[in-house]
Amino acid sequence: MYVARVSTRVPLSKQTASHLSKVVAANFSQSCSGSLHRVGLGASPVLHTSQSHREFSSTPRAALRDFFPQKETELIRKTKPAWEHPDFSYEDMKTKVFYAHREPADFSDRVALWMVRLLRWGTDLVTGYKHDVEVPKKIGDTNAVAETKPYGMSERKWLIRIIFLESVAGVPGMVAAMLRHLHSMRRLKRDNGWIETLLEESQNERMHLLTFLKMAEPGWFMKFMLLGAQGVFFNSMFISYLISPRTCHRFVGYLEEEAVFTYTLAIQDLEAGKLPQWTHPDFRVPDIAVDYWKMPEDKRTMRDLMLYVRADEAKHREVNHTLGNLDQDEDPNPFVSEYKDVGRPHPGKGIEHLQPIGWERKDVI
Ligand SMILES: [Fe+2]
Ligand SMILES: [Fe+2]
Repeated sequence: MYVARVSTRVPLSKQTASHLSKVVAANFSQSCSGSLHRVGLGASPVLHTSQSHREFSSTPRAALRDFFPQKETELIRKTKPAWEHPDFSYEDMKTKVFYAHREPADFSDRVALWMVRLLRWGTDLVTGYKHDVEVPKKIGDTNAVAETKPYGMSERKWLIRIIFLESVAGVPGMVAAMLRHLHSMRRLKRDNGWIETLLEESQNERMHLLTFLKMAEPGWFMKFMLLGAQGVFFNSMFISYLISPRTCHRFVGYLEEEAVFTYTLAIQDLEAGKLPQWTHPDFRVPDIAVDYWKMPEDKRTMRDLMLYVRADEAKHREVNHTLGNLDQDEDPNPFVSEYKDVGRPHPGKGIEHLQPIGWERKDVI
């Protein structure tokens, strides 16, 4: 297996620079098709860093193909997403989004937390995730950032993990929305506004996936793993949501706690200079991301992208922990409601009043 390496000593041509975001893709793709075990079973990648004479410009053009280009038609100029992303202020993304853990209050919460821990263990194994920090035990735990073992991540390993996780992250919202939609028609009852937020969440997760797929094309083994994971996860969520929707929302809330933690570590790695391909001055985030998050011109680094994605995950964490606190049949969705008392903060689509562990029912209904 060969992995090209960036050398900051040699100036890059403009054309080469514009493809920087996809170079990791080429490395990723080559590694995926080159070794089954490397992708699926978490063996450490072998980086042939001694071959430093080979620069990005020598990456085969075929490996950089755009595998879902926008369809050109005779009449259509642009197709906009159904749900525009709400504006997040840069300051809010840096100060209001952080790791937080909601303590389980009953048996249903504990089942949800155990399931997430089990899934996390399995995903760590499958994606070869080895980070040099501990999992935080409480809100703002500083031990979580203390290095405990040699650094085991790289751009390629981050992409494998993120793509795998984002490919299943869009499932719960869609399953919950579908079941609530069917329930409403079957039982001749209103849904009270939950469906829209759940669909929006799953669309947002799919946008995360599409963004990272612009940087990496998985090999056949990874595609096979995604197929299996979706099959198992969709059916498990379907059955579980029919049995206990409240436990499912709590489960997603805990899952999103892990997502916020994962992206926090990725941001810290970027800031610490551990991921040089993503901090190279010529690195470009994909256009799909710039359009979707309406990223300002001076805020288009990989770190900025990670800040947006992490804020989205924190929003999902808030939404699902809140929904997990509500009466599943009767309560309206607090995130799309108008309130009688306009003088104090209420749930909404933005992150100005983000509640890390969700809103309590007594405060919103
Ligand atoms: Fe996501
Ligand atoms: Fe999420």
